[in-house]
Amino acid sequence: MSSLAEKQIWSADTYERNARFVADLAGDVLAWLSPQPGERILDVGCGDGALTARLADLGANVVGIDASESLLEAARARGLDVVRQDVLAMDYSGSFDAIFSNAVLHWVTEPARAIANMRRALTPNGRLVAEFGGHGNVAAIVTAMRAAAHRHGGDADLAAPWFYPTPEEYSGLLRDGGFKVRRIGLYPRPTALPTGMQGWLETFRAPFFRQFGDQADAVKAEVVALLKPSLCDKAGNWTADYVRLRVEAVAV
Ligand code: BEZ
Repeated sequence: MSSLAEKQIWSADTYERNARFVADLAGDVLAWLSPQPGERILDVGCGDGALTARLADLGANVVGIDASESLLEAARARGLDVVRQDVLAMDYSGSFDAIFSNAVLHWVTEPARAIANMRRALTPNGRLVAEFGGHGNVAAIVTAMRAAAHRHGGDADLAAPWFYPTPEEYSGLLRDGGFKVRRIGLYPRPTALPTGMQGWLETFRAPFFRQFGDQADAVKAEVVALLKPSLCDKAGNWTADYVRLRVEAVAV
């Protein structure tokens, strides 16, 4: 990411308030990982360590990596072994029995490089178990932001900096990167937003609104109004149109 307008800034406080559900809804991917006591596990994009701590509690020797110092501080406060590191730059070699990643890999727009680094980090037969946004994820939200960008002369591409592959596309990348895919699928998961659409937009897409300067709040209100008929029920509860791609692959 290059300019300030594109930069996603993570704050542990904002994340805790608006996105605690990210870790709370990770039961399925944790079940796919099925961590064993004593296993060496790398948690890619550990964030504030909520899930890293669950892996550690199950007896795994976990190392977490993340790019955000604010989130890492929160993880360190839980007593976790975490390092400021980018999946695109890490150079672990044969160090882990498994790699786990939740709600992170859609931020990585050079997937082949990330897969190469994860493959190198694993022992032979080591497994990669990950869940992240898949094809069609938050499509309504992105379309509303694109519409607002067109109306206000903004950059519509700032609405969606993410990589949301189909299972076929991601399977191909994994095979090319030295993995055998054991199971992979898309799982629609309508997700309740505890602080509504405004909280979600402020947590995850601030760079999009920043481009509108002193009009940012008005553009945000317009996006919320566009989405209300589709994603907000009569009682005022918001649901986001999440689609998860979940995968288990083995290093060959
Ligand atoms: C997701 O988990 O699908 C997601 C999170 C933040 C921004 C976009 C998507």
